[in-house]
Amino acid sequence: AARTTQDLGTTPFRPVAPNTVDAVRTAPGFTHDVVIRWGDAVLRGAPKFDARNQSPAAAERQFGYNCDYVGLIPTTGDKALLVVNHEYTNEELMFPADTYTDDEIKLISMRNHGMSVVTVKRGLVPGSWRQVKNLRRAPQNRRIHIETAFALTGPAAGDDRLKTSADPSGRRVFGTLNNCAGSTTPWGTVLSGEENFNQYFDGVPDPSLATEYARYGIAGGEGRGWSGVDPRFGLGNEPNEPHRFGWVVEVDPTDPTSTPMKHTMLGRFKHEGADVVIARSGQAVAYMGDDERGDYLYKFVSSGTFTPGTGRRAKRANMRLLTEGTLYVARLTGDGTGDGEYDGTGAWIPLCTDTESFVEGMTVAEVLVFTRLAADAVGPTRMDRPEDVEHNPVNGKVYAALTNNTQRGTRFPVDEANPVSGNRNGYVLELTPARGNHAVARFTWNLLLVCGDPASAETYFGGFPKDDVSPISCPDNVTFDDRGNLWVSTDGNALGSNDGIFRVPVEGPERGKVQQFLTVPRGSEACGPLIADGNRSLFFAVQHPGEDDGSTFETPFSTWPHTNDFPRPSVCVAFQAR
Ligand code: FEO
Ligand code: CA
Ligand code: CA
Ligand code: CA
Repeated sequence: AARTTQDLGTTPFRPVAPNTVDAVRTAPGFTHDVVIRWGDAVLRGAPKFDARNQSPAAAERQFGYNCDYVGLIPTTGDKALLVVNHEYTNEELMFPADTYTDDEIKLISMRNHGMSVVTVKRGLVPGSWRQVKNLRRAPQNRRIHIETAFALTGPAAGDDRLKTSADPSGRRVFGTLNNCAGSTTPWGTVLSGEENFNQYFDGVPDPSLATEYARYGIAGGEGRGWSGVDPRFGLGNEPNEPHRFGWVVEVDPTDPTSTPMKHTMLGRFKHEGADVVIARSGQAVAYMGDDERGDYLYKFVSSGTFTPGTGRRAKRANMRLLTEGTLYVARLTGDGTGDGEYDGTGAWIPLCTDTESFVEGMTVAEVLVFTRLAADAVGPTRMDRPEDVEHNPVNGKVYAALTNNTQRGTRFPVDEANPVSGNRNGYVLELTPARGNHAVARFTWNLLLVCGDPASAETYFGGFPKDDVSPISCPDNVTFDDRGNLWVSTDGNALGSNDGIFRVPVEGPERGKVQQFLTVPRGSEACGPLIADGNRSLFFAVQHPGEDDGSTFETPFSTWPHTNDFPRPSVCVAFQAR
């Protein structure tokens, strides 16, 4: 069959207009397929999904809820492993009324968190992909959930603050929670950020940890009531259990028997995700955001260097890179707005290495377990909710989504990097490492996008004429096609229409030309985005369709993907229509 161009990086398209339809809409000439939905079988023995007949045992074998990060690891031939985060659950959308006890709802919801590894293969239409439904042909499939054992690595592993009665070693944690964004490492593993983990702990906080809990929003109270089915989620039972969440997780998706890791060297905060680039020196550099109003951008630089090669030995060596090195937090200084640009210089301030703390009065383990408190002591820049931070493999710059911060200008004074009072629509920040070297401590920065309605004076689109861009609000995840275009997905569109995914050239005459490539259904956020397969495929996750806006199971606000009378979070792939 003749191949058409199909290149998502170069094909011109007419942008999708803002809308509130309960559907995925792609730019004309493109289409999409649903690859896998909440409840679809991942492991052999999974029952066919039935919302009225869910169970904890079934959930451990089915695709989890609220898909977020999407990675694709090519395996053999036309096959690949789709690796997906399941960030959280919407019980109000998952369970028909009067069908389950409270305890059943908790146990099932817990197991709908975590991650999935799913074998997929190319479809007939170039750019399309589908799940391998014969699970005998999918031996690498895996569900990681609340009962999956993780090994803590790095300098804080084994620290007293990480010990519980079930784990006196402080080195072995069951489960991962609120996994938001992520990335695929240059050595073929997947990193995943544990974000809003504070919400899972209930009960009465230990007063001796009041400062540490407060900085992480761990307030106890009723929470999700999980301690009723698993006592470790009660703060009064296990005051250290929350310290075992809020890490960057690393999973080797090609080996379903491998023990996933939580890397203490990358610090503990509300990790949106982590993105690794190999610096010229061979060191692995991970960029990270802490998604909270007024929190920080971080980076880690490894001591060791990358071992090239695709063999098992190289992978094993590379999987140690994130255990030793230096953790930094970012300070951004503006050069004044008289130049008509929000821009300036920046410094990465070291917090600790694996053997030495640079924060007075805190040990290395304390810096890593209470990273927010350590960072507070060195004067970094309080940002407008740093979400995904990723490097552009073509131009070598780094892009951070700063999703919004309605308290900017009140609780947090404006500065040149966070210039809009009551920031509802967010920014995309562009960082340029000094001398193009990711391992060094200096950079320059500018705001590539000040998001919002182009008709609004405060918006900025990299200098591109505003009458030719799509409105964009609340950037969350970023990725790149192999021509270096930035792709942005949004969460929480404050302009009143559905969220979506946008293509943005960052170099040349079209720099800043924001074009909406697709919109997602009512109440959902767009996640994942991943350009794969030579720019032919755009994978994306539709997370929490039907959330908010008074939706209930009986009178659904969304029923997408319209396989039933209730919505189902799903991973999709968009590609050029035949
Ligand atoms: Fe889960 Fe910061 O988005
Ligand atoms: Ca300036
Ligand atoms: Ca996110
Ligand atoms: Ca978000």
